Amino acid sequence: MKSYQIALIPGDGIGVDVTDATVQVLEAAAQKFGFQLNNTEFTWSCEWYLKHGTMMPKDGIETLRAFDAIFLGAVGWPEIVADSVSLHGLLLPIRKAFTQYANIRPHRLLPGVQGPLVADAFDILCIRENTEGEYSGAGGRVHQGTADEVAVETSVFTRTGVERILRYGFEQARARRGHLTSVTKSNAQKYSMVFWDEVTRELAAEYPDVTVSQMHIDAMAAKMVMAPQDLDVIVASNLFGDILTDLGAAIQGGLGFAASANICPDHSGPSMFEPVHGSAPDIAGQDIANPIAAIWSAAMMLDHLGEAEAASAVLSAIEAATAKGIGTHPGKHATAVITAAIIAELEL
Ligand code: IPM
Ligand code: MN
Repeated sequence: MKSYQIALIPGDGIGVDVTDATVQVLEAAAQKFGFQLNNTEFTWSCEWYLKHGTMMPKDGIETLRAFDAIFLGAVGWPEIVADSVSLHGLLLPIRKAFTQYANIRPHRLLPGVQGPLVADAFDILCIRENTEGEYSGAGGRVHQGTADEVAVETSVFTRTGVERILRYGFEQARARRGHLTSVTKSNAQKYSMVFWDEVTRELAAEYPDVTVSQMHIDAMAAKMVMAPQDLDVIVASNLFGDILTDLGAAIQGGLGFAASANICPDHSGPSMFEPVHGSAPDIAGQDIANPIAAIWSAAMMLDHLGEAEAASAVLSAIEAATAKGIGTHPGKHATAVITAAIIAELEL
């Protein structure tokens, strides 16, 4: 029997609730499709920080390296640890250390879910650069606390980084409906974004079967609201992709439905799967968080592990549950009810 080593990092707030739910669904999928998931849980979180002064142990990254995949619930609890500390201490270093350069976020309406738009059908795959760009962490502050204070935060775009994320996008577009939209702001940012546009054009020559559009981020924000049905694969930088994927979540009915995968495409390290939503400490532990985003992310994990049949069965089970009205509106059903409904559909 195939077995996979999974590192579970439930994290903070509802991260714990949705991870619990996800583990139940994964267990049902493993039973049905005949593989084994060996879960090891790490309690690294803001509470862990209060006890240890760091978000994970010094050898945390090395510990994670041994796993086939990482599932993360959510990190952050700004009342007790500043986000700039918690996220730079856990989530962001994991993405960078394992070269999880492709952050993949699907945006489409699940059956029975009413989005805020007139468009009732769209299927967008947003591919966000995940290791550099505006979130490279390069920068500094001087003259702190004085009138002369200066803060700089430098965006870093490397040929390696830009080329590999665009290439990943072209491959995805080729496997889908053959259209790629590269998102920049090259009319205003004349170095990094002009460079990104150039690399897009270079690669386009290698993919004659993919039609390519280039759009500016502001125009894309409008497009995703006005005509999302015209979009297929979107490739964007770290910051732009971050913003567009919250917009994507909104048009698909809310963050409760937005799944994501941080992929290390060459499998040189583990990939990490997590819902787009945050830790929402105000509703934690109340059995009201929607676990669908997390469970969909776990389906992406199964796919990445090579369990394609189980992955599509989990996604179909989510769709069958929402088609019956389960979990389609915030607060409509308890976490446990949604989870049980998905498991029941999976076991049919
Ligand atoms: C996300 C989140 C994170 C990000 C934050 C919490 C650092 O917003 O996964 O989209 O921007 O990457
Ligand atoms: Mn975000």
